[in-house]
Amino acid sequence: MGTPHAILMTATAMAIGAAFAADSGAGSSQDSHAAARKLIAESKCEACHARKVGGDGTGIYTRPDRKVKTKARVAGQVALCNTELNLGLFPDDEAAITAFLNDTYYKYK
Ligand code: HEC
Repeated sequence: MGTPHAILMTATAMAIGAAFAADSGAGSSQDSHAAARKLIAESKCEACHARKVGGDGTGIYTRPDRKVKTKARVAGQVALCNTELNLGLFPDDEAAITAFLNDTYYKYK
């Protein structure tokens, strides 16, 4: 009489603590955007987005039915892609990418 062994699935809480304020204020330097572009290229963000929206992939940020509707959500979605896909970005990287995406595509205040 074997004790049935329940398969325990670890419920991974989707805690996206994008609480740290993205500091794109005070004259966001060209430098931080250069870093963000490099990170985006290295993480193959657009290569993957292109599979969904075609083109160079950046259309995902400007599509009419885009997900992201506020600046906070930009940070949240960057964090989500990073975590979901195991891209290994640090919080500083996410903040730089968020600032770049917002300045370039979303332009939320
Ligand atoms: C392996 C595939 C993949 C990779 C790699 C990836 N993403 Fe995404 N990303 C997606 C998909 C799929 C969506 C659309 C999700 C949806 O529509 O529900 C998305 C959506 C987004 C959005 C929201 C677009 C909108 O609707 O406004 C942002 C922002 C984003 N990704 C940022 C990034 C960044 C930054 C990186 C790299 C650091 C990245 N993603 C890497 C698959 C990927």
